[in-house]
Amino acid sequence: MSRRDIGVGLLGLGTVGSAVAKILLNKSNKLAEQIGAPLVLKKVLERDVNKARLDCFASLAMTDRIEEVTTDPEVDIVIEVIGGEHPALEYIKQAISNGKHVVTANKEVIAKHGYELLSSAKEHNLQLRYEASVGSGIPLISPFQQDLAANDISTIYAILNGTTNYILTQMSQEGWDFSTALKQAQKLGYAEANPANDIEGMDAAYKLAILSTLAFHTRVDPQDIYCEGISRLQASDFRYAKEFGYAIKLLAIAKRDNGTIEVRVHPAFIPEDSQLAKVDGVYNAIQVEGDLAGDLVFSGQGAGASQAASAIVADALIIARDICHGANYVPELQLNQELPIKPMRDIKTRYYFRMNVADRPSVLTQISRVLGDNSISISAVIQKESDLAAQTAVLVIMTHPAEEKAVQKALEEVKQLAVVNEVSNFIRVEG
Ligand code: HSE
Repeated sequence: MSRRDIGVGLLGLGTVGSAVAKILLNKSNKLAEQIGAPLVLKKVLERDVNKARLDCFASLAMTDRIEEVTTDPEVDIVIEVIGGEHPALEYIKQAISNGKHVVTANKEVIAKHGYELLSSAKEHNLQLRYEASVGSGIPLISPFQQDLAANDISTIYAILNGTTNYILTQMSQEGWDFSTALKQAQKLGYAEANPANDIEGMDAAYKLAILSTLAFHTRVDPQDIYCEGISRLQASDFRYAKEFGYAIKLLAIAKRDNGTIEVRVHPAFIPEDSQLAKVDGVYNAIQVEGDLAGDLVFSGQGAGASQAASAIVADALIIARDICHGANYVPELQLNQELPIKPMRDIKTRYYFRMNVADRPSVLTQISRVLGDNSISISAVIQKESDLAAQTAVLVIMTHPAEEKAVQKALEEVKQLAVVNEVSNFIRVEG
């Protein structure tokens, strides 16, 4: 195969960008053999001039002007690893309108604008690939687009955020409180200085929007996803979960249900012998149920520079190989379903409640009456940690399946009872 080299423009030279640049520089011969032409880093957009001075990048052509990358006739593929919505979105649009194929790791841009960007790329006969946007180096986008294409996917249960999974693992195994675990995650470089997107579940919601759109062939926007973070959890919730035989994970859930879909991200009790319960630390895992393939689990490190670079360079290789062979298959988002999203109040699941109550006769009777009046059936109760001096106790209740709207109403009524000092937490129970 003879062809001029395939030119790459790299937007961003942060941790992931540097890992991509190093692979393209250090593995160039091996990559050239795979695709039939050299894959050459032609230009890098980076505002920090100090990075340009690093020895390992001395050979790179750096610029701080986006146009110099997107209009460079020698650039065939633009790799975007800046992250965040802006200006990454505008840069990707500019690359497409200048006839460049695009590879991105940007979950926020793909979750919010993927449909428009993919349509625009298709119109220009260009590829837009985003394997690294979900699960980093875990192959997910390609399996959903190709390997599972013959399946009707019924459910996705996933751990999609490494930072929160690390925090929950430490809270469970070390008994740490949330803020200690968060500080440690920041110290180890897992959580960002502003960790809100991870902690509040938005990072997982972006990823779930991308996966559920591919799985159900219907448009799922991130704002359609019910999203609840992990900051309400306390060390005692993990102790009670263990007593009942459960682990607590930040779950991303997508389910098909009678012509509707459920899409939600929130902490959940899951049986401690389930596969996802054993996924600890910064690892991610995605459990998918297809009518033909059955139950599948994809797992691996869902964050990290070399993991993201693994998926990003693979996307660039696919495009480069197509360019070399004159074949340009442009994957399309097949949105041939219009599945309404089930409102959160209509979902049905089991629940765990933790309350601080007065430690005296008839308390349980009053609470169970309120629950019963709202058609909520109790499956187990334990009373813990009585404080003799204060005459209070911690009451932990597990329920049978109940509707979310009934649970919310019942909890409001329970809070009004004079014998209830506080409804300290409630957590949904899955599986
Ligand atoms: N912040 C993400 C996580 C990594 O903690 O999983 C990149 O998606």
